[in-house]
Amino acid sequence: MIKKLETAQTLLEALPYIKKYANEIFVIKYGGAAQLNPELKDKFAQDIILLYLVGIKPVIVHGGGNKINEMLERLEIKSEFVDGMRVTDAQVMEVVEMVLGGSINKEITTLLNMHGAKALGMTGKDANFMTAIPKDDGKYGLVGEIVNIDSKVIANLLADKFIPVIAPIASANEIGHPGFNINADLAASKIAAAIGARKVIFMTDIIGVLDKNKNLLDTLTQGQIQAYKADGTISGGMIPKVDACLEAINGGVEKAHIIDGRVEHSLLLEILTSQGIGTVIKK
Ligand SMILES: Nc1ncnc2c1ncn2[C@@H]1O[C@H](COP(=O)(O)OP(=O)(O)OP(=O)(O)O)[C@@H](O)[C@H]1O
Ligand SMILES: [Mg+2]
Repeated sequence: MIKKLETAQTLLEALPYIKKYANEIFVIKYGGAAQLNPELKDKFAQDIILLYLVGIKPVIVHGGGNKINEMLERLEIKSEFVDGMRVTDAQVMEVVEMVLGGSINKEITTLLNMHGAKALGMTGKDANFMTAIPKDDGKYGLVGEIVNIDSKVIANLLADKFIPVIAPIASANEIGHPGFNINADLAASKIAAAIGARKVIFMTDIIGVLDKNKNLLDTLTQGQIQAYKADGTISGGMIPKVDACLEAINGGVEKAHIIDGRVEHSLLLEILTSQGIGTVIKK
């Protein structure tokens, strides 16, 4: 009897959040580093379906770090990271598109569909919905900076109850151009701002942003982010992630969260319970 009451309590705890977020768009960056094993992937899919069925509109943007590295190694193609960005030449771009827009995108799309969603996989080249130019004058090769997002494409998909699953590749708006590799975090924040998302959530492989002593920073301000980047506390793949958080909140998104994708059901815990986890950045 007590157990049943507890279950009812747990469900009731979610009620205010379900009311608050019904019909709101949430952009979820599903990091390559959080796509660890089949069980975790399954739990991720369950969480997305639950959010979808209670009326939240999820939009997934995914990364693919490890799988791209594995394929590059198999093909004996070298690539390096500068400022947390993968320097991308034409050969690397071909692999990025194959792995990110191909196998990973279809894996996530299939998983969600097998759990009962109507997920639709796409890259920025589809419907030409996301276009880019070279980032920082081509400092990172074919790494692009998004210049336009046709938000109507996403809005139409959401209105038709699709869950868009977006691989962060942009069109160059030019025939014969291989397109641009976009850092998935920055793509997620740009997309979130363009489509009027309420939240953007970055699922990664760490509990959140850590300070010099490896303690969790549960909130971060713009000033702290600049300081931690400057003194090296925030480095590597965390750099584009915090930049993306700032870009999202400056673009009108209410809150940006960095959460631990290794924790089972971390999405549900963050969104539908009072126990926030990870790091939150808000205006
Ligand atoms: N101050 C910091 N706090 C937390 N993590 C940090 C910090 N500085 C650097 N990092 C690194 O950032 C990593 C997360 O970024 P990373 O790009 O590796 O993952 P991801 O974005 O989730 O995956 P992907 O890039 O494949 O989509 C952490 O695993 C950690 O090593
Ligand atoms: Mg990353």
